[in-house]
Amino acid sequence: MTPDPAADLLRRLAEGPGARLLDALPPYDEQDALALLARLRADGHDPELVSAALTQSRLRTRGRPRLGPGVEDLLLTQDGLEQATRPAVATRRAARLARTGVRHVLDLGCGLGLDAIAFAREGLEVTAVERDPVVAAAARANLAPWPGARVLTGEALSQPVEAGDGAFLDPARRVPGVADVHGRTRRVRGLEGLSPTFDQVRDVARRARATVAKLGPSFDPDDVPADADAEWVSLDGDLLECALWWGAGPPRRRAVVGRSRPGVAAVWDELVEAPDPPEALSDAAGLLGHLAEVDDAVRAAGLTASLASAVDGRQTAPGTGYVTAAAPVDHPALRWFVVREVLPLRAAVVRAWLREHHDPAGPVTLKKSGVRLDPDGFRRDLRLPRRARGGEEVVLVLTTVAGSARALVVERLAPSSRSAVEH
Ligand SMILES: C[S@@+](CC[C@H](N)C(=O)[O-])C[C@H]1O[C@@H](n2cnc3c(N)ncnc32)[C@H](O)[C@@H]1O
Repeated sequence: MTPDPAADLLRRLAEGPGARLLDALPPYDEQDALALLARLRADGHDPELVSAALTQSRLRTRGRPRLGPGVEDLLLTQDGLEQATRPAVATRRAARLARTGVRHVLDLGCGLGLDAIAFAREGLEVTAVERDPVVAAAARANLAPWPGARVLTGEALSQPVEAGDGAFLDPARRVPGVADVHGRTRRVRGLEGLSPTFDQVRDVARRARATVAKLGPSFDPDDVPADADAEWVSLDGDLLECALWWGAGPPRRRAVVGRSRPGVAAVWDELVEAPDPPEALSDAAGLLGHLAEVDDAVRAAGLTASLASAVDGRQTAPGTGYVTAAAPVDHPALRWFVVREVLPLRAAVVRAWLREHHDPAGPVTLKKSGVRLDPDGFRRDLRLPRRARGGEEVVLVLTTVAGSARALVVERLAPSSRSAVEH
């Protein structure tokens, strides 16, 4: 294979003087970057290495919110960073894969190696394959601390899959070489543009003992293959992915809701389909005293009715992601409100209500789901004062209740004021 100068530069940053230069850099500051570059060059450092080190420093700063403090030990690329799995999610996945009994895992299209690192930490032997030589060089450096992990540069699908292997595929949803004005490669939506393709994923799943494929979070529950277990995963309220599993248990749909914890990877709660979930409300009069916003993982998995059943409630309407119940029940996938008023969804009516009940005018928060409406236009029609005048916040949920468009005036409930349920 012909040497790739960019990959070579990354290799030089992984060890020796390059690594020492990178370690010695101060926290990245855009304002100081040019002066620092000039200073380091004047000190006799290789200009190319200095530029590459500063790029890494910038990417690490950018990657910290996504990848946490461990980012300081990683070599990154812009695209690789944007596609990298969050460590807490990778850790949970690795633990589940290890529970299937596999000892060796193939990471077929490993990117920067965030999942491969989690597999290695879990004690699994890892063969990671990446076709982009620069990304592969970064992955090799990132996995260097684990002697049981190796990174191969090349075509993932040419790697033999043994019957006892675990396999992981996180197909790229980017088009190599097609960049936007910011230099970021274009994303593809749906299953068509995946690399490796969905057919290749399924073929691997037929051969390996256990396989997991990470797909986009908008993967439709109706498209889940009959033999696959599907989980939609959110962390701290952000819906991140849908993972399909083969060989890890009976096929079923689940929502996995995580909350980051300092010092611990994350706390996870799982919700599966209830045996006989209640129908959505058929009459707007059935709206009960409390309303809860459902975590996006539950909504994406199509499990809102199942969650409603767990808290003795009902969906307000299919697909809107709201549940109503007589009493709020503590659950990590629900954020509760008290329903103060149920109004028809008409700006004039809501405006009159606000004039009468909302003085001094505090901030007005709009939440919209399941209705066709332009929230900015609606806000304009409410003729709210330009600046809130220090009064209480009003939350308006603009949604469908049993087929009718409604504006619900609601008040947030603090978690401590709820009763708890086992989950
Ligand atoms: C979404 S990224 C993987 C991210 C990784 N799971 C992580 O968390 O760091 C997918 C990677 O697969 C690579 N890839 C796509 N198709 C491939 C193929 N056929 N063979 C090898 N690598 C491939 C892409 O270059 C890309 O780096």
